[in-house]
Amino acid sequence: MVQFTLPKNSKVKKGKAWNPPPDGAEKGRWREYRVYRYDPDTSENPRLDTYWVDMTDCGPMVLDALLWIKNRIDATLTLRRSCREGVCGSCSMNIAGTNTLACTMHADDARGAIAVYPLPHLPVIKDLVPDMTHFYAQLRAIEPWLKTDSPTPAKEWHQSHEDRQKLDGLYECILCACCSTACPSYWWNGDRYLGPAILLQAERWIEDSRDERTGDRLDELEDPFRLYRCHTILNCTKACPKGLNPAAAISSIKRKMLERGE
Ligand code: SF4
Ligand code: SF4
Ligand code: FES
Repeated sequence: MVQFTLPKNSKVKKGKAWNPPPDGAEKGRWREYRVYRYDPDTSENPRLDTYWVDMTDCGPMVLDALLWIKNRIDATLTLRRSCREGVCGSCSMNIAGTNTLACTMHADDARGAIAVYPLPHLPVIKDLVPDMTHFYAQLRAIEPWLKTDSPTPAKEWHQSHEDRQKLDGLYECILCACCSTACPSYWWNGDRYLGPAILLQAERWIEDSRDERTGDRLDELEDPFRLYRCHTILNCTKACPKGLNPAAAISSIKRKMLERGE
């Protein structure tokens, strides 16, 4: 039988319990969070620290609780966030077993102790901050900007309302990577498979009526790995906190490939 062994420093150890609720604390007032901690400056394995959050002193979202912990209990806890309203994509992490945005996830939507990990299958820089370097390099590779050959119009590139509507469900992507890091194909082949987030971005430009390099864009994706590692498992669509459908975007690219080959 095949045996798998985890690299030594990938095992998550039991961490510190920081601030247990006071004796006689009101029932339901304190909420338990178990948070992944990793410090690259030590040789220690990652650990899971336990914090208790006073819900009467804290906003309702998981991001509120993490910031409460950082401000009140442990300033070393490291995470990314910016907009705190689901538009910047920087607070994506794995909460209670699901990739999502900490700022739009209500703590009441998780039961019991809330486990908080960085996005899965990415190298971790520190605590809840994954290294997105490869993800952004893949985004750059699809050249996500308008490419034209016609002379630039004096005022603006026109687009009909109907053509503009074809970008609905694509332009809203905030590049949080919740979908790509939930995709088994991306876990195993992320070095060469572009993954659902980047392919949805590619489709956004392929579908744009103003773009004049559709053929080149499809040529770039015509590859056994970049596009065709999608096996329609649909984890991506389930994971998207913006309600987008990357699997459908990938199918649409595959359909265009077929149509141009006919
Ligand atoms: S549908 Fe494709 S992109 Fe989405 S999770 Fe499945 S394999 Fe990954
Ligand atoms: S498609 Fe959804 S989950 Fe994927 S990067 Fe865009 S917003 Fe995030
Ligand atoms: S902080 Fe911007 S999406 Fe959560």
